[in-house]
Amino acid sequence: MLSAHNIVAGYVDEIDILQNVSIDVEQERITSVIGPNGSGKSTLMRVICGFLKPKSGQVLWDGTDLTGCPDHGMAALGICYLPQERTVFPHLTVEQNVRLGAWTFRRDKARIGRELERVYGLFPLMRERRGSKAGDLSGGMQKILEVARGMMISPRILICDEPTVGLAPIIAREVYDTIERLREDGLTILLVDQNVREAIRIGDRVYVLEVGQNKVSGTKAEFETNLHDMIKDWLQI
Ligand SMILES: Nc1ncnc2c1ncn2[C@@H]1O[C@H](COP(=O)(O)OP(=O)(O)OP(=O)(O)O)[C@@H](O)[C@H]1O
Ligand SMILES: [Mg+2]
Repeated sequence: MLSAHNIVAGYVDEIDILQNVSIDVEQERITSVIGPNGSGKSTLMRVICGFLKPKSGQVLWDGTDLTGCPDHGMAALGICYLPQERTVFPHLTVEQNVRLGAWTFRRDKARIGRELERVYGLFPLMRERRGSKAGDLSGGMQKILEVARGMMISPRILICDEPTVGLAPIIAREVYDTIERLREDGLTILLVDQNVREAIRIGDRVYVLEVGQNKVSGTKAEFETNLHDMIKDWLQI
């Protein structure tokens, strides 16, 4: 469905952060990308989402070549990208934040109303808190708010970069549960995570990056049985 083939990319000419990385994202599955700090996970997401033009390699979406397609075209293609950085507007209400997800069709009031109802159906807690300042929500709820805002475009794929970083495990669990629920509803998910065990637990396929290269990849079952061997160098266990 979505694939990145032989991506070479970096931020300055001389240094290739990604050195020939490839991943394939399967429809209605969770594909997890894990790897140590600085291994290029976020850089890969930026390339896939059109924020960074690769030096070489291809990004394919349903067979269409997206390489170098500007990021603003992504929503129209049904691609929702949640970057690693927090992106809620703390001084706006929950509902104002959710409505920002409708930016690309902001003049279509009827569609905004329909999408808002659908999103509130998926995230009842957001409906309950719709008048609260987003900054008053817990860290986990703010992340779920970002997901809810992203759902306004009825995406076909959700690309989530480290959604649980900095969250307490019990709060992180709510975010993982949300992502799993969206997969059950038929959404395709590309997840970057530092939490290896959770990424393998909820992932259907897992890719490990190391210093800008594909290290290993496998299905969840392969990782669960061979986890120790597959990532021992990295974890030094
Ligand atoms: N905007 C940027 N300009 C220059 N170099 C960058 C930029 N963003 C990242 N880098 C460098 O690219 C390399 C890969 O960073 P990247 O953020 O892709 O790694 P990551 O795997 O997402 O790490 P983390 O787990 O810490 O989020 C690092 O060496 C980083 O310093
Ligand atoms: Mg990152």
